[in-house]
Amino acid sequence: MSASSKIIVWLVGSILALVVIGIVVWIQLFREKPQHHLAGAPPEEWFKYGSIGSEATQGVPYWIWIVLPKVFPDYLPGPGGYASLGIPWEQGRELPVGFSKKTIGFERVAFNCAFCHTASFRLRPDDLPRYVPAGPNHTVRAQDYARFLTKAANDTRFTPEILLAEIERIYDMPWLDRIFYRFIIIPATKKALIKNGWQLAWTETKPNWGPGRIDPFNPIKFGILAMAIDDTIGSADMVPLWDMQARANHALHWDGLNTDFHEVVVSSAIGDGMTYQSIPQDNLARIEKWLKTLPAPESPFSTQLPADSPYHLDPRNVARGKRLFRQYCGECHAPEGKRAGTVIPVAEVGTDRHRVDMWTAQAAKRYNAYQKEYDWGMDHFQDVDGYVSVLLDGLWLRGPYLHNGSVPTVRDLLNPPAQRPATFYRGHDLVDAVNLGFVSQGEQAQRLGFFYDTHIPGNGNQGHVYGTTLAAADKAALLDYLKTL
Ligand code: HEC
Ligand code: HEC
Repeated sequence: MSASSKIIVWLVGSILALVVIGIVVWIQLFREKPQHHLAGAPPEEWFKYGSIGSEATQGVPYWIWIVLPKVFPDYLPGPGGYASLGIPWEQGRELPVGFSKKTIGFERVAFNCAFCHTASFRLRPDDLPRYVPAGPNHTVRAQDYARFLTKAANDTRFTPEILLAEIERIYDMPWLDRIFYRFIIIPATKKALIKNGWQLAWTETKPNWGPGRIDPFNPIKFGILAMAIDDTIGSADMVPLWDMQARANHALHWDGLNTDFHEVVVSSAIGDGMTYQSIPQDNLARIEKWLKTLPAPESPFSTQLPADSPYHLDPRNVARGKRLFRQYCGECHAPEGKRAGTVIPVAEVGTDRHRVDMWTAQAAKRYNAYQKEYDWGMDHFQDVDGYVSVLLDGLWLRGPYLHNGSVPTVRDLLNPPAQRPATFYRGHDLVDAVNLGFVSQGEQAQRLGFFYDTHIPGNGNQGHVYGTTLAAADKAALLDYLKTL
């Protein structure tokens, strides 16, 4: 062979090798596959386990995610792996509710809407927990989940050797995957999680969220909207997403910062890591449609139950309570009420104002103008100075109450603020059949819950004094009616 033909063979060979390497790298790291395991599944299944397009930016490689609790149990609040963070886990399922698995090159795990919007409850101490998708997740410790990932990534045990050894105990990983995990995926994940930790470092200077609460919009302000870190506190309770049709003309979010349901769905997914390259149009449309007509769960309280059941209600009391509700609460809380779903000024409702002060006109303007290169179609973000008079459907599953979850039971809410508990435990999932809410005092609540102190900024339990001056018998009747919602 002449020298020149040797060069040509060498060149062609090298190019072919590069192409093959390129294809392998693309398949191993970037090739996206649809979620075949959910094909044909009902919307609820997609809501619980489907992708909201956040795997590329927020996803943790599946096998790393699986072994992290085994390598770093000391960074979790208790035994039981991720479930110890108050994350619902259906029996026999591969992942907890609120986590989606999607292949982008390799399998990745990211949380979705159900992470915060699935409630768990027990009616009696011996019951197993039951889950209500679209209910407010009052047990999930979202902040501790983020802390867990950050602490693990910063630990010297987060190495390819240790993680792969743990993975190989349960899974015989193909050699090519192992090479990619060892040299690329594990080191890159460590870096990304450490960076994530820096981005959330500001949360450590603010009051703890505790279970069932997050600061939903400060991460948006300081991250997505690139605003300077400030000293506001935006702690907010999780909310239910059922029957959104009944809220069609309502202001949404606790302070009514947006009035368009579609925009709230899209911006929620953006907040969780979706980008315009990763919008799962089908799934977002499916979720949106499903939430519109999904009914609130039926109350476990009933006049039909035997009188010795803790969930029994006296029909006369309920009827009397209904009249009182119409008289004292209906204007703001009945579906047909004139002020239902509107923003009631803080000066009037009198509840803790930190959450409202967190959101500003500048933030609203920036979100409406977010990423001009892509038409997100958002123009309903606004700055308001109050809290929305929310519908009270499924109230039995919504404790603790008010936007910051500062009042453990509805009975307490009907007492003047000075008589409401100054401290209690939140995050326990046993329904408080007497007071309406979840059990928030006593040994069990203390052991399983989070100590909530109303003196901490953003945790105030003042205001909303409606019904607090009613006679004791009227309050009892009103409470019985509220138990039926
Ligand atoms: C990390 C927790 C979290 C995740 C994940 C999450 N949300 Fe939310 N969501 C919240 C909280 C907390 C609020 C109330 C925030 C506030 O107003 O301060 C909320 C409010 C809402 C509201 C307003 C409801 C109303 O009646 O005012 C809608 C709608 C909503 N979320 C939809 C979604 C959708 C759809 C997704 C997934 C794409 C999602 N959320 C993901 C925590 C979460
Ligand atoms: C003037 C309007 C108005 C009236 C009247 C009113 N409320 Fe409210 N209610 C609100 C607003 C606004 C909020 C949200 C306040 C917040 O979260 O800071 C709220 C919140 C609540 C919540 C908490 C909901 C949740 O998911 O945490 C309950 C329960 C409630 N109200 C019950 C009542 C009852 C019972 C009455 C009648 C005795 C009543 N309200 C009268 C405006 C009103």
